[in-house]
Amino acid sequence: MGQPFEAIKITDRVYWVGAVDWEIRDFHGYSTDRGTTYNAYLVLADKITLIDTVKAPFVDQLLSRIASVIDPRDIDLIVSNHSEMDHSGSLPKVVASVEPKQVFASEMGVKALAKHFHQGPDVTPVKDGEGLSLGNMNLTFIETRMLHWPDSMMSYLGEEELLFSQDGFGMHLASCEMFADELPDCVLEWEAAKYYANILLPFSPLVTKLLTKVEELNLPIKIVAPDHGPMWRKDVGTIIESYRKWATQKPNKKVVIVYDTMWGSTAKMAHAIADAVSAAGCCPRVLKLRSAHRSDVATEILESGALLVGTPTMNNQMFPTVADVLYYLKGLKPAHLIGAAFGSYGWSGEGVGQAMEMLVAMDVDLVHDAPGAIRSQYVPTEGVLDDCRGLAKLICERLS
Ligand code: FEO
Repeated sequence: MGQPFEAIKITDRVYWVGAVDWEIRDFHGYSTDRGTTYNAYLVLADKITLIDTVKAPFVDQLLSRIASVIDPRDIDLIVSNHSEMDHSGSLPKVVASVEPKQVFASEMGVKALAKHFHQGPDVTPVKDGEGLSLGNMNLTFIETRMLHWPDSMMSYLGEEELLFSQDGFGMHLASCEMFADELPDCVLEWEAAKYYANILLPFSPLVTKLLTKVEELNLPIKIVAPDHGPMWRKDVGTIIESYRKWATQKPNKKVVIVYDTMWGSTAKMAHAIADAVSAAGCCPRVLKLRSAHRSDVATEILESGALLVGTPTMNNQMFPTVADVLYYLKGLKPAHLIGAAFGSYGWSGEGVGQAMEMLVAMDVDLVHDAPGAIRSQYVPTEGVLDDCRGLAKLICERLS
């Protein structure tokens, strides 16, 4: 093992012992421009308990951080809140090295871990609401099925009023500052929103249900410890309220204009729309798809009211980057959007219609039917640009 790593104290009895991944820039198709962390936590109860592990290549960081507090072989119990490999990838190696007395996961987690590791460790299933005595402290398990995997659960440590929230309330952010209150609000807001938009958005109704359930359980929560990014120890209500707000997907006056262009014609249309959106009192977000990543488009969609899609036609198809982003957004199931498609073409011009079909498949409420969509053969005339301005005005009237 190389350079030793230090654990970070959260309370007298709980330590962060995870790993920092400074270099990752693509997390299964999500751009992680600030890297990420794989958080794991050590609870120094009578029965010493490790909550989650880390992605397989980072196991030495995890074991080194644990060793900065205790002998890793003193760990009695391991809880796996989520079987996705960024949190369970090193579980077999950790179990082999630590030899805990028991490993716990949700019922679905037991099945998922078995399907991942085949010859993996014996795992004891726990149920929603079940408690686990650690001797002088107690864990309570809260199943969070489909938030965002079938196996997902959270663990609540009552004595510290601490929620190990697995992917929930997390973000991809590698930093020396491991507490949210040490980081700039603008960074937290963007990265937390990006995480929600790209991971949790399709499950928004379940997020609302979970927040209601947690409220009904009346669990005091002083600290939220997610599996990615900083821990929340002050103003925990801020991130919880953000989730409540994002889950409702209430549209606002932001108009997301995504487009690509071959010879600048669709770009001219996009900019005419954006300027008119601004003039009409809405807020345009213009994203050219060869410089904007699909996961950043998803983040902008989160609190927007409209999605306008500009595409040229190439080889009888909408432009590939446009197809990519629409396909990605469709899976995220954004709700309550109005929208339209527009674009230029040379001769056949199928691209705009195909984009409209995708918007319909996404349940976007189109403001134009297909014949009313704005298309420009080759370079847009002033008349076409006026139509673009008219579209912007119509969209903003609908959002007001
Ligand atoms: Fe961070 Fe769903 O794994």
